Amino acid sequence: MAEQSRGVVLDAFTDRYAARTHGMTASEIRALFAVASRPEVVSLAGGMPNLTALPLDAVGKVVGELVASRGTTALQYGSGQGDPVLRELICEVMALEGVQGSPDDVVVTVGSQQALDLVTRVFIDPGDVVIAEAPSYVGALGTFAAYQADVVHVAMDEHGLVPEALRETIAAVQRSGRRAKFLYTVPNFHNPAGTSLADARRDEVLAICSAAGLLVLEDNPYGLLGFDGPPVRAIRARGGEDDVLYLGSFSKTFAPGLRTGWVLAPHAVREKLVLAAEAAVLCPPAFNQMVVAEYLQTQDWQGQIGAFREQYRERRDAMLDSLGQLMPEGTTWTRPTGGFYVWVTLPGDLDAKVMLPRAVTERVAYVPGTAFFADEQGRSNLRLSYCYPTPERIREGVRRLAGVLEQEVELRDTFGATGSFRLARPSAETPSPDMQ
Ligand SMILES: Cc1ncc(COP(=O)(O)O)c(C=O)c1O
Repeated sequence: MAEQSRGVVLDAFTDRYAARTHGMTASEIRALFAVASRPEVVSLAGGMPNLTALPLDAVGKVVGELVASRGTTALQYGSGQGDPVLRELICEVMALEGVQGSPDDVVVTVGSQQALDLVTRVFIDPGDVVIAEAPSYVGALGTFAAYQADVVHVAMDEHGLVPEALRETIAAVQRSGRRAKFLYTVPNFHNPAGTSLADARRDEVLAICSAAGLLVLEDNPYGLLGFDGPPVRAIRARGGEDDVLYLGSFSKTFAPGLRTGWVLAPHAVREKLVLAAEAAVLCPPAFNQMVVAEYLQTQDWQGQIGAFREQYRERRDAMLDSLGQLMPEGTTWTRPTGGFYVWVTLPGDLDAKVMLPRAVTERVAYVPGTAFFADEQGRSNLRLSYCYPTPERIREGVRRLAGVLEQEVELRDTFGATGSFRLARPSAETPSPDMQ
């Protein structure tokens, strides 16, 4: 039983937990997000897809017909690898990004988050190195921490991961006598950086990793949500059949509540992933998979993705316009051509994490940059999401944020390095759903 001592809750189980739980600590900013979810706060923090454009009547019809016609199968246990019909359809979805995969090498997962978990479980021993972009998706960092991986970050610029930096990082890890198992990368409309890996760099990144015997974990939930033209070919489409584990998801292109994602793996790895999945969940939910399969077969899902894209483009424009009009001098940000996120760099030595309580008091929320690093980087960064609020709310949120920043800059200029520009204590954030 937890006991209360001088206002601090002590956990009486501490000396019984497995060592792997040591990396699992609740984020200090969780409590703030509880406040941030109040209606008066404009939250530019969460990465929840906007489902207002989804035709719920049509989805309801799909669900109703499924239960009526194949209810006893849909409500039964299914295969550990996932529904064969869905796996074939997933190959058609991946083909849109140039990926030629066999349904036999696809494992359906409970969102791509479970795919991250399975891949890490299968490849990582405590102390193994994962090379990950700086910054990286907070949910992936949480998984890597849970399996006691050492995350070594590699630099990005406005064109994504920097190949030269990757070469140097691999060499440095080798010199330190440690073993890097894979590179974790989000090549399209990066969460949180908002950038995409340039076409020409994709072949280079694959070549560098293949030469070093490093797998590429290509996490691509946003690839079909680009605003400018057709998708760029995936890394997995460039010949990396045995070098790339490709993760996909229906969370951003259909509905996250169905928790349906997948991994396309080299054939040998596929078997290990299925065994790991069976040990964790027996099988992914048959019902959800069949809903997704029916939706893909009977509805204009590509047209629907087009509708989502238009919604997000309008919101991206609202955010970039207001940032351009309102941000104080010295603030910079990325200009995403798809996806959900803008990555902001604050002027001078302002600290986004220390500034967050003040921002929430001013009724605007964001995710501080430190959440997206396994080390102490990211203090002068924050992530803004434009996916969920209306364009009007986005403008209002940016206006409030600009007000907070102006106050901070003024305070700093008056009093020097105190207040929100103090250095925050470095910590690895454990993700909360608001931060995804
Ligand atoms: C880069 C990235 N990978 C994986 C996920 C997990 O998505 P899901 O488990 O819903 O498929 C997310 C969710 O935000 C994400 O942004």
